[in-house]
Amino acid sequence: MSRTPLISGNWKMHLNHLEAIQLCQKLSYELARHRYEQVEVSLHPPFVDLRSCQTVIDADRLEFKLGAQNCHDQNQGAFTGEVSAAMLAKLDVSYVIVGHSERRALFGETDEIVAAKAAAVAEADMTPIVCVGETLEEREAGRAAEVVSTQLRGSLAKLSRAQFETLVVAYEPVWAIGTGRNAEPRDAQEMCATARQVIDDIRRGVGSGVRIQYGGSVKPVNAQELLAQPDIDGALVGGASLDPVQFARIVQAALQACISIKAARQAKNQDRKNQDR
Ligand code: PGA
Repeated sequence: MSRTPLISGNWKMHLNHLEAIQLCQKLSYELARHRYEQVEVSLHPPFVDLRSCQTVIDADRLEFKLGAQNCHDQNQGAFTGEVSAAMLAKLDVSYVIVGHSERRALFGETDEIVAAKAAAVAEADMTPIVCVGETLEEREAGRAAEVVSTQLRGSLAKLSRAQFETLVVAYEPVWAIGTGRNAEPRDAQEMCATARQVIDDIRRGVGSGVRIQYGGSVKPVNAQELLAQPDIDGALVGGASLDPVQFARIVQAALQACISIKAARQAKNQDRKNQDR
């Protein structure tokens, strides 16, 4: 099944709304030289920048989808300091990251909380990007697959079958986030394939359609090899998404990966035809 790669820039707590506008414009300039219809790009600025980014994306007809980094699971109420999925939807937000490892580790988000947020995002007709990933300790103990499986089962527990069909999952090993140490493409592929299998176990038949991103120190130098893996359908990019040149090069790498995957598939089909003759 062909899945459109999704490259998402997670700006975390960086850039005020004026800097955010500049980054949207610079990125659009960098990408204008390339045709990238085969790749989807989403930008996830801090909440306070969303309205400015939405305005510039709209006015300049930029090809980016708008994303958020978090939300609350209730539509409204006495939750001081929180922002609801419904509020984000009104700003033309398409994707919301939920359960990022920084939120799990620093803000105490459990799988149950992540599940409620993912469901709230989907209910508001946006797509959740549900993050999972093991710590270094868990990897070294040989528990990476088990940890990711448990996180997926807990975090996706409240989604309906229809909501699974548009779901995005981000596999982000915690030890690779912001460390400059990315997972080896082969290991990342293995974990993404495992995640796909678990998703298919949760809801039979949906696994092959769910997009699974890899995240953790994705840079222009490693993007193409990571994105060429058959079960990696995009990247969740932190640090490198703040630099328009680097981020544009990652989008280009995704395009190149699409082209090489397509060429490999065609060569395989041709081989098969030749053998049948
Ligand atoms: P990084 O962050 O690319 O800076 O490692 C990835 C993320 O936190 O989503």
